[in-house]
Amino acid sequence: MPDTSVRIGSLVLKNPVLAASGTFGFGGDYARLYDVSRLGGIVSKAITLRPRAGNPPPRLWETPCGLLNSIGLENPGLEAFLAEELPRMRELGTAVIVNVWGEDPEEYGELVSRLSLPGVDAIELNLSCPNVRGKGLVGENPEATARVVAVCRRATDKDLWVKFPPQGEVLQAARAAQQAGATAISAANTYRGLAIELETGRPVFANAIGGLSGPAIKPLSLRLVYELSQVVSLPVIGSGGIVSWQDAVEFIMAGAHAVQVGTGNFIDPLCAPKLVRGLRKFLVQRGLGSWELIRGCAHRGGISGAA
Ligand code: SIN
Repeated sequence: MPDTSVRIGSLVLKNPVLAASGTFGFGGDYARLYDVSRLGGIVSKAITLRPRAGNPPPRLWETPCGLLNSIGLENPGLEAFLAEELPRMRELGTAVIVNVWGEDPEEYGELVSRLSLPGVDAIELNLSCPNVRGKGLVGENPEATARVVAVCRRATDKDLWVKFPPQGEVLQAARAAQQAGATAISAANTYRGLAIELETGRPVFANAIGGLSGPAIKPLSLRLVYELSQVVSLPVIGSGGIVSWQDAVEFIMAGAHAVQVGTGNFIDPLCAPKLVRGLRKFLVQRGLGSWELIRGCAHRGGISGAA
């Protein structure tokens, strides 16, 4: 049997398939559909210090092969998460990664400090939300990224994954995150996008700009993972339009250690476990004992021995 596991920092995931933040809630709804312990891990909806109601509707807008969202970080806040959601997440039998968003570096620090609890396997710093005016896209800037990661590194011993936006000085910012103590790079969040209502001539979202996800962005995210995995020595976790095991293999070949399924969960709620199955079958059929031989092979002229 192949070894499907992957190591990211101190964490060993049973396989490289994670549910992406904001597309899986806290896992409970999906646990009614299938055994979510089959996944490598679940990344929670972004948690903020205080509860947030999010943006006014509409918040979702379908585009060809994509989905624009303007959720605005709706979540129950840290206290309610710790009291109600985290205990339930811990029961799901897979790795628990908590995504956090703060107003400033100190708030990120407080969040990660208070989340330094048994059963929290890693913390993903959301430096990439396009839906909060003026404050969400910290990861576009290397200095701002370094400030947040440094504060968080001092505040916790937990593994810190840093989730980047796909735009801005991301390669430099990822290097800055590595120097400041990040454990892994998570790439990437949604692309800033716009839709306009023809009847009114107004943007469909109250905030105008939303975040584009889904198959439409896959080649762009794949390119970013390919580039990031060349400029940092940390594990890179790929996301952006992954809906099939073939997509996931491409990300691994581009250099990713793991992948996150986001919009794919909305297209097919069984998308993530299908990826787990497909990836295992891929290893078996190719006679590969683990991911080592193919991870990043696109940088090395492909799979050695392939015609
Ligand atoms: C949101 O809640 O607005 C989406 C979260 C994100 O893009 O980080």
